[in-house]
Amino acid sequence: MTLHRITLKTGADLHTFRKAVRWLIAEELAPQHVVFAIDDEPGLLGDETVTNAPPVAIPKGVSRLIEQVVCHGDPERYALLYSLVWRVLNGERDLLEVASDPLVHRIDLMARSVRRDLHKMHAFVRFRRMQGELERFAAWFEPEHFILEAAAPFFVDRFRSMDWTILTPIGSARWDRHELAFGPPGRREDAPEEDSFEEGWRGYYESVFNPARVNPTAMRAEMPKKYWRNMPETAAIPGLIQTAAQRVERMIEQEATMPTKRTPERAIEAMWDQEPKTLEELNAIIAKAGPLVPGATQAVFGEGPHHAEIVFVGEQPGDQEDLQGRPFVGPAGKLLTKAMREAGIEREQAYLTNAVKHFKFEQRGHRRIHSKPTTGEVKHYRPWLMKELELVRPKLVVALGATAVLALSGKATPITRSRGRATFGPYQGYITVHPSYLLRLPDEATKREAYEAFLNDLRRIHDLAQADLETGELPLAAE
Ligand code: URA
Repeated sequence: MTLHRITLKTGADLHTFRKAVRWLIAEELAPQHVVFAIDDEPGLLGDETVTNAPPVAIPKGVSRLIEQVVCHGDPERYALLYSLVWRVLNGERDLLEVASDPLVHRIDLMARSVRRDLHKMHAFVRFRRMQGELERFAAWFEPEHFILEAAAPFFVDRFRSMDWTILTPIGSARWDRHELAFGPPGRREDAPEEDSFEEGWRGYYESVFNPARVNPTAMRAEMPKKYWRNMPETAAIPGLIQTAAQRVERMIEQEATMPTKRTPERAIEAMWDQEPKTLEELNAIIAKAGPLVPGATQAVFGEGPHHAEIVFVGEQPGDQEDLQGRPFVGPAGKLLTKAMREAGIEREQAYLTNAVKHFKFEQRGHRRIHSKPTTGEVKHYRPWLMKELELVRPKLVVALGATAVLALSGKATPITRSRGRATFGPYQGYITVHPSYLLRLPDEATKREAYEAFLNDLRRIHDLAQADLETGELPLAAE
């Protein structure tokens, strides 16, 4: 058996791995014929020449896992990932859904470990002023995995106007207010031990510390002691724990005199008290509640005839929708409108809304990057969506994508398994992909094919809405 050797650089070498995967797939080389080696290992078999090959369309979940798992410290990571890609492209497209599969399980554990490490780095890096330098800061951090490059953009966002360096045993990151650069590993002693801002961090921690939630075991699990040395505020922890009981008593005394907060939960309770009778009344309640995560310009409500026959439910407003205050007006919305028209559905005749009514995003430079709502957030908005449907009373409810399915059914179900006719509580439903999925597909041929399938769904939706669903007289063959 011929073995093909691929050499990658030490660390998270996503670029070489991607290039190698394209070439290996184009050459139809199964995982048992490939050895992945890391830079500094002696080349026993001679390196393979990896030439440029066309992109490979893999499910988004797989590509997200690859991005995370290449950061893992396990030298077998590339071989495991290539086996995953190979199997997904060779008849096991939904492999990630088989959580009991040993390969999927192992890769999932690795991805979790990387995500945990990223979270810890984001939370526990503490910059200190460099000696003799007024405007330069440095921090020391010891990650478990090769996460420096993946973690650094977060610090650029947070500390854009500072000149900082993060030193770690696997490399360093430097931001000079303009450019992010990566360099060789650093040493703990190269980072300052203390600075005059120490008191600031301590004061900040004392102000956000909640004595009613004090749980030293959980605190140590979340913030392992190995990080304490780099974090000035940890000096305050023993004192804060000792005085926690007294502080709770003080908080309870103060509670009675505090003004009532207007939280989204209270707004939902208010909805049940007020029982909105119209969409306008419902929308006023949603607007008053405000976003769960701060940042959105405004709530984006459903749009269309108040007793439309078809309701389309998307995920959440995007950047354009947030600015204009209308659903589906950005790129995904334009594609949906075009496809609806081609399928014979007039946008003006349908009611378009979202599972979540506020845009959630991550700021990257000047761009606001859509950030997927969590299950908790979807469930939080669900009573409002259900009330909206009750007021519109449509004949057919269309779920666009997995978030809409979760909101409408209360269950997370992959679209690949549930696509087609469905019921959502008392409503006849239909499940199809979200139009933004079509926009994200990597190549034109796949895009065209997926668009055709989406059009077919919309044509069926059109026909279903024409049919008398209650008597089951459908113009289409039953599924
Ligand atoms: N995506 C959605 O799910 N809804 C919108 O309104 C726009 C994009």
